[in-house]
Amino acid sequence: MSTNRVEIFDTTLRDGEQVPGCKLDTPNKLIIAERLDELGVDVLEAGFPISSPGDFKSVEAIAKLVKNARVCGLTRAVEKDIEVAAEALKPAKRSRIHTGIGTSDSHIRYKFKSNQDAILERAVAAVRYAKRFVEDIEFYAEDAGRTDNVYLARVCEAVIQAGATVLNIPDTTGYCLPEEYGAKIKFLKENVKGIDKATLSCHCHNDLGLATANSIAGAVNGARQIECTINGIGERAGNTSLEEVVMIMRQQPHLNLHTNINTRLLFDTSRLVSDKMGMPVQPNKAIVGANAFAHSSGIHQDGVIKNRETYEIMDPHDVGVTESAIVLTARSGRAALAYRAKNIGYELDKLQLDHVYEQFLQFADRQKEIKDEDIPKIIKASGI
Ligand code: KIV
Ligand code: ZN
Repeated sequence: MSTNRVEIFDTTLRDGEQVPGCKLDTPNKLIIAERLDELGVDVLEAGFPISSPGDFKSVEAIAKLVKNARVCGLTRAVEKDIEVAAEALKPAKRSRIHTGIGTSDSHIRYKFKSNQDAILERAVAAVRYAKRFVEDIEFYAEDAGRTDNVYLARVCEAVIQAGATVLNIPDTTGYCLPEEYGAKIKFLKENVKGIDKATLSCHCHNDLGLATANSIAGAVNGARQIECTINGIGERAGNTSLEEVVMIMRQQPHLNLHTNINTRLLFDTSRLVSDKMGMPVQPNKAIVGANAFAHSSGIHQDGVIKNRETYEIMDPHDVGVTESAIVLTARSGRAALAYRAKNIGYELDKLQLDHVYEQFLQFADRQKEIKDEDIPKIIKASGI
């Protein structure tokens, strides 16, 4: 594996499924898991096995089904959680236990009514215990975004010594700025003894709309795993969006960061998850929104018709979208109308186009969008 390869840890079926009203049954989780495996995710977080018998069953079924990805189960730093996760993951070809505990002052004081030393001991004990069951142990320092860097480094060092292979640095509350999150990863890279034995992982929430930017800042500063969900679904404002981080790394070659994702499956995967979860994708969503490759203003349409690259920084085919759309509205110009008319068999010369365009504007002021089936009516009404 190239050292600049960033592993994609998909948590659509765990953190993503924590969205209110988006609960999935096992058969639907299996359909999504199979697709994520095909997409090329490196790690698939299948659920939180102790949370319910249904989740245990789903994690176990996914562990049986998945062919390529490593299957992961979440636990708290609690022995029973770890035993149950290990049991659910037994059928997997390759498995990972994801265990951890809150490390910020607020979590230590209010959630655990504890202190830093005691939390560090629990973290180490959880990793050691999980290590009895599987080799690959990811440790999460919950609320790492608001955890003091020096204490965070102490925890990371201790859990690496206990056998953690991956260190998850979650910005659980989506509070960090990209510079701050990137600096946190850099600090850990430079100050944790044994850090080369472990992979640093970004797990960012989107409360301030910065999850994607923070994850990329983390990778630029040395993290080699990004945790994300399809369509960015997840608790509150969601998680880092898989399609966004993957396409940023692909479209910005100077970053020299690569993933194993088959980007041509992104659009279909987005729609599959949206359908199964009953969660519509906002039309202006980057990469996979219905309008991500649609052009409706005259100036943009004219440019795109002359050369797609004038207003598109990626090829829609690369994300599985068949083509850019030229949408006809009252803001469209002659070039767009001529283009759409030609597509359905009407070649208009300049004079004809002037007449038809006049009619078109009258139609377009009355209805939001002009469809292909409206064009012959407009041509007829123009009298040419
Ligand atoms: O956001 C978070 O901190 C989490 C952890 C449980 C990994 O989802
Ligand atoms: Zn999370």
